[in-house]
Amino acid sequence: MKIADRIERLGTETAFAVSGQAAAWAAKGNKVYPFHLGDMNISTPANIIEAANRAIADGKTGYCPADGIPPLREALARDVGARRGVDYGPQNVAIQPGGKPVIGKFIAAVMNEGDEVLYPNPGYPIYESQIEFFGGVAVPYNYIETDTGFAIDMEKLAASITDKTRILIYNNYQNPISAASKPEEMAELAKLAVKHDLIVLADDAYYEIRYGGEPRSIVAEPGMRERTVVLYTFSKKYAMTGWRLGAAVGPEAIIKIIAKLNVNAESCSNHFIQWAMLEALTGDQSGPQNILNTLKARRDAAVAGLNAIDGINIPTPNSTFYLFPNVTKIMQRKGFTSIDELMTGALQETGVSFCTRNHFGRPLPGETKYFIRLAYSGIDVPEIEAGLAALKTYFEK
Ligand SMILES: Cc1ncc(COP(=O)(O)O)c(C=O)c1O
Repeated sequence: MKIADRIERLGTETAFAVSGQAAAWAAKGNKVYPFHLGDMNISTPANIIEAANRAIADGKTGYCPADGIPPLREALARDVGARRGVDYGPQNVAIQPGGKPVIGKFIAAVMNEGDEVLYPNPGYPIYESQIEFFGGVAVPYNYIETDTGFAIDMEKLAASITDKTRILIYNNYQNPISAASKPEEMAELAKLAVKHDLIVLADDAYYEIRYGGEPRSIVAEPGMRERTVVLYTFSKKYAMTGWRLGAAVGPEAIIKIIAKLNVNAESCSNHFIQWAMLEALTGDQSGPQNILNTLKARRDAAVAGLNAIDGINIPTPNSTFYLFPNVTKIMQRKGFTSIDELMTGALQETGVSFCTRNHFGRPLPGETKYFIRLAYSGIDVPEIEAGLAALKTYFEK
């Protein structure tokens, strides 16, 4: 069978392959500590579940508008705008079946073939995949490890801008490395975007997964509202990754195109879940607070467990639910030259399953350090403690 050429350019999320390996290891009767996937083992708040059930009983089971039900668009415009200090109305919102579809639809809406797109690497792998699938040139920017976390290599980023650069993809509160921009870094990025007339995707998937301090979005920087689309998702804040609801929020002209892409792709997002999300946004807010409290306790246990390992030293991130320790010293101690050896060895010797840097975009030339990524969104504190104690024994051997 002849397959379309563009499929050769389509990437994927190889983290799902790690799930397969972990599941196969567990199926053989082995204990597995699941640190690999950014999925959640926390229940969706009860008021949201009740609202979804009510909406089904009320017959909200047919098609609805392609860009979403008006009351949800209205409520989300208010919520996203107020939390970022930007003025939005319902015309700025197109509801989506998750946050992820915003990436491909944004690129399809604003990128021409041959356009250069700046994207974070290590980063969420779907950026690289969708840029290349739609015929763009994926231009990676990377992060520098500092004592307080990771910072964007701004010098390199600025140097890679050409007259073909058209788009900047920016994931503050970053997956996989939990990087959070300092205000100066965000302001500098915004200035570059304005200077070079770039359109920006602000992937704010973890904007509200914060353990302290006020979040900041690049859309609030001068000159950014009219050139930025915000990726919004209900998945993480409300622990509802499998429900599939999110939104693109941005300039009306781009939102209209994205809504047209909705008509072509899925007609509309799930109707009754949209009514449940109205409850999520406007009803009792103790659910998301409890979710954050749970995640914070896990973060503290995971950071402590990792820092107890000789050769690992990570700061405590204030956002997301990922840790990205540098394991170069562990690799040297073990005499490994491939990070896959460490990943497979850890699974087989300890049951601890994690992803590595290689699951988050093609490694860049000249990388000499090794990193792994642990997610603590799907594993309880006692298991975090037991898993990381086992990992300590293995890593220090
Ligand atoms: C950086 C980032 N963006 C977007 C998403 C998409 O999430 P969802 O499609 O569940 O809303 C994820 C999910 O892990 C993510 O890590």
